[in-house]
Amino acid sequence: MVEVAFGGSAEEVSLEEVGLRYEVDGKIATITLDRPEKRNAQTFATWSALAHIGDTLPQQVRVVVIRGEGPSFSAGIDLRMFTPEGVPGQGSFAASAMLDSSTFEQRLAKAQQGFLWLRRPDIVSVAAVQGHAIGAGFQLALACDLRVLADDAKLCMKEPALGLVPDLTGTKPLVDLVGLSRAIEICLTARTVGAEEAARIGLAELVVAPGDLGQAVQDLTAALLAVDRDAATATKRLLQGASERTLEEQCVAEGQEQAVRLRALFA
Ligand code: ACO
Repeated sequence: MVEVAFGGSAEEVSLEEVGLRYEVDGKIATITLDRPEKRNAQTFATWSALAHIGDTLPQQVRVVVIRGEGPSFSAGIDLRMFTPEGVPGQGSFAASAMLDSSTFEQRLAKAQQGFLWLRRPDIVSVAAVQGHAIGAGFQLALACDLRVLADDAKLCMKEPALGLVPDLTGTKPLVDLVGLSRAIEICLTARTVGAEEAARIGLAELVVAPGDLGQAVQDLTAALLAVDRDAATATKRLLQGASERTLEEQCVAEGQEQAVRLRALFA
């Protein structure tokens, strides 16, 4: 059971009710979006549950895989949010529009927590994407460190076409990966990016046949786990900070991390 918060209230629900499966096998955690009959549409409950998984991730876990059951990784936010009735117990965009700014920002920040932990330096997160990854689905894939795509993957930042902005942490990784101009073009046309293009412009590390997706993720996971954990964590931290630092500052940071490694290995 996980506590999922909707607006002011919170209730205990099972991951199954939220439409998620979660398995930990030693150093690997696998989160499966498991509402294939609704193309793994996401709700606030999805994001609360993801945040809960992040908060309680067992210390031994080093790789987190996010995958979707069925033909699509995720068709984005549950379209019931656009209706006056909304998603039962979770509100609607119309209700969100009535919130004062600070309440809305707090609520959104909670949703974003479901995505942000996937960048923690002590883990590597991998999205395994087949079929559609639309809106929140694309942003969830972008929240991961690495993306392995089936060759039928279709990525689309649909929010602007619906009058919205992407607000589930996806804009920064998108710009970091493809550059500002390409990010503007992808978002403001809300066009679909196919797997081959995704790999070419830096949105995917690997593209494989749909039937090979599971094996490709397993092979990648095995390679990631073959590297020393502390070295991997320190290296990810260094790489993550690189774009914010000058070359000189980055050199200093490299030295600081290496001094810790050398003491751990040889002192
Ligand atoms: N929310 C709720 N239900 C959905 C969603 C969604 N985002 N996407 C699909 N479904 C449901 C459909 O209503 C349908 O349900 P039903 O069988 O009860 O009628 C079922 O999932 C299957 O959907 P189809 O459209 O029949 O599946 P298909 O494979 O032909 O198409 C596709 C898949 C392209 C993903 C299409 O469903 C679609 O365009 N979905 C909406 C995408 C969207 O606009 N998402 C919001 C983006 S903005 C954001 O995320 C913030």
